[in-house]
Amino acid sequence: MDSWKLEYRCFNPQQQGLREALCTLGNGYFACRGAAPEATADDVHYPATYIAGCYNRLQTEIAGETIENESLVNAPNWLLLSFRIEGGDWFNLSEADILSYHQQLDIKQAILTRTLRFRGPAGRHTCIEQRRLVSMDQPHLAALQTLIYAEDWSGAIEIRSALDGHIVNAGVERYRDLNNLHLKSLTAESVTDDMCWLEVETNQSHIRIAQAATTRFWRGDKVIGLKPRVDRLEGSISHLYKTELDANQPLRIEKIAAIYTSRDHAISEPGLEARKAVAQSATFEQLAGRHILLWKQLWRRFDFDIVHEDAEEEDRTEQILRLHILHLIQTTSPHVMDLDVGVPARGLHGEAYRGHIFWDELFVFPLFNLRMPEITRALLRYRYRRLDEARRAARKAGYHGAMYPWQSASNGREESQHLHLNPKSGNWIADNSHLQRHINAAVAYNVWQYYQVTRDMEFLSFYGAEMLLEIARFWASLASYNEELARFVILRVMGPDEYHDAYPDKDQPGLNNNAYTNLMAVWVLLRALDLREILPTQRFSELCQTLNLSKEEFALWDEISRNMHVPFHQDDHGHDIISQFEGYQELAEFDWEGYRNKYGDIQRLDRILEAENDSPNRYKVSKQADVLMLFYLLSSEELDELLTHLGYSFEYETIPRNIDYYLERTSHGSTLSRVVNSWVLARANRPGAWALFTEALNSDVADIQGGTTPEGIHTGAMAGTVDLIQRCFTGIETRGDVLWLNPSLPEGLKSLNLNIRYRQHVLGLQMTTTCVRICTEPSAEQPIQIGIGGKIYHLKQGEVREFQL
Ligand code: BGC
Repeated sequence: MDSWKLEYRCFNPQQQGLREALCTLGNGYFACRGAAPEATADDVHYPATYIAGCYNRLQTEIAGETIENESLVNAPNWLLLSFRIEGGDWFNLSEADILSYHQQLDIKQAILTRTLRFRGPAGRHTCIEQRRLVSMDQPHLAALQTLIYAEDWSGAIEIRSALDGHIVNAGVERYRDLNNLHLKSLTAESVTDDMCWLEVETNQSHIRIAQAATTRFWRGDKVIGLKPRVDRLEGSISHLYKTELDANQPLRIEKIAAIYTSRDHAISEPGLEARKAVAQSATFEQLAGRHILLWKQLWRRFDFDIVHEDAEEEDRTEQILRLHILHLIQTTSPHVMDLDVGVPARGLHGEAYRGHIFWDELFVFPLFNLRMPEITRALLRYRYRRLDEARRAARKAGYHGAMYPWQSASNGREESQHLHLNPKSGNWIADNSHLQRHINAAVAYNVWQYYQVTRDMEFLSFYGAEMLLEIARFWASLASYNEELARFVILRVMGPDEYHDAYPDKDQPGLNNNAYTNLMAVWVLLRALDLREILPTQRFSELCQTLNLSKEEFALWDEISRNMHVPFHQDDHGHDIISQFEGYQELAEFDWEGYRNKYGDIQRLDRILEAENDSPNRYKVSKQADVLMLFYLLSSEELDELLTHLGYSFEYETIPRNIDYYLERTSHGSTLSRVVNSWVLARANRPGAWALFTEALNSDVADIQGGTTPEGIHTGAMAGTVDLIQRCFTGIETRGDVLWLNPSLPEGLKSLNLNIRYRQHVLGLQMTTTCVRICTEPSAEQPIQIGIGGKIYHLKQGEVREFQL
């Protein structure tokens, strides 16, 4: 098995949606699903192209209400290329007599190949070989190369190459009752015999999208000029070429497409730039050469190497992790450094969650922090640009500071839907997920982690600190003092576990004192207070002036940070358990076995119970890790500090006890859940860690939720699995100006090698179960501090150190 390849050896219509998502190619500016070039959207195929940050809003009447949704727009389809032989039917995978089929995603080169052989009418055999790329070198370009061999016949062939702007967003079945026509056609024209272009505009956000494409033909090395018939339909343009195919003389067709939008920098207007880009473009081979070079450089930074005692296991793990890294880079490549975009939870790979940006960044950023932090910096600036909108949202809700939305897209308005469809019952139900205020802890945590890894003081001074301070202010205003408890409380929120949005007997949504939210709020307040010592004095006082921050306000933050309430209850053995929220212990235990027997797959218990006229709010059931998120984000030392600071006692055993308690009560309805569970268990249960890790690995390749991956990859779970190797098994923690290492390789894993960047140093890490070797590349950087086994060492540039464990 080649761990750099993802291969499929037959065409399987049921699997097509999944493969399209997994074979998506992208470069951070745009991405294109791995659909068949000749296909248009139907029950099997869903070709789609998504441009980062290209959103549009539409209204729909649903259940007597007008709702508005903002979606990442499916752009015109540049890929369309189909053919027919001697006036027969246009080639169609589902109807053709396929003799062999091979589809391969080359993970190293980010090139998708499809080779197929089929028998046409009169027993004629034809072979097609197609390669495509979305250029990492030139972010506006994509290319498709097609070779057609007539094996045992000669005759006429027609090729249609089109740009199709007659497109709607129809990638997610349960959104199909919602309006989905985002594009208005402006132009669709033929420019020359080999070039056409079109322009559309999104009908609310008024983003103009232009595409131009050239289609050129070769017989051997000889270019052949063909005169097309031009077909123009509403919003689309196609060139129809006719030529002769000789037996065993392949015809080569290259389609090069360019995409520009009115959001781009350094352009005159998108149409002109798109036409110019394709007119001047190199051939497929030349484009591929540069594209592969760029990917080679990226892999040098992002790759890793493991040795497992089971060689097959090793290959499979490396293959899936590399696939994950590929898709993450394709979603947020170095090209995002110059864009105003975030990380859509489902990548640029499908339409689930409408391309929105959630707290999933929390799982994605650690990978980029330690490999290419410039990318995280750009993504954090997406949040900074929406700080004013977050301030407005806080004010509108009666709070101070900045309240970031649970779902974010174009301008940072709250994009969570008010109603969502339960496909199981057909009911439209109130959606209270916007109450997940913990997104604000995630934004602050991400700022802090980025700073810890990079020590980028300029970023912290000018962007990060302002976000942190405003978020701290929000938490302080959300907290209220409870006389009876003599502590601060946070009321009417939702934690990460989306199964619980209200108390069973209450009409009003929200829960009180979600432990994760309360503790992370305290964590944010403490970090905001730390800024007093970290920021240059002048900058700190400037911020205090501009944000109108007083000593009294800091004093209040300090007081809240010492007196926040954290609910506890006891398990059957009388041990303390951190309650997911206040009152959790009153909820009924759930009949897990009964429901498993009845339904088999109970990952989406919320849908099952709603369809039964019941609600998860009544039970001790979690969709995903909630309390356990604390052990995921904070080391036991940090959690100890936090709880002690709050005057609660903490003993290490609390961690495994809570893990056991909540794992028994979690259905893993979110792919993030398995990542967190593997992570927290990996530290507590070395023998079991590998099994859990491999379970988390399968989330997308095996589409373990049964149908969600075709609607888009799960960027959080993909990054989380890579980060299990990167930070969890290595025990990497960046805290207090020290890079802590605390390796704990799971049973079976013999060694682990990776390169990371920490404070401008390039570090090579090699770990076995008994030894850690660290080397730094020569550079002009200051020494860094490495913490191993409780001791701190200074490491200079160019140094190599070995530590026995
Ligand atoms: C999860 C959230 C997540 C969202 C987007 C939901 O199913 O419950 O935690 O942010 O998906 O990935």
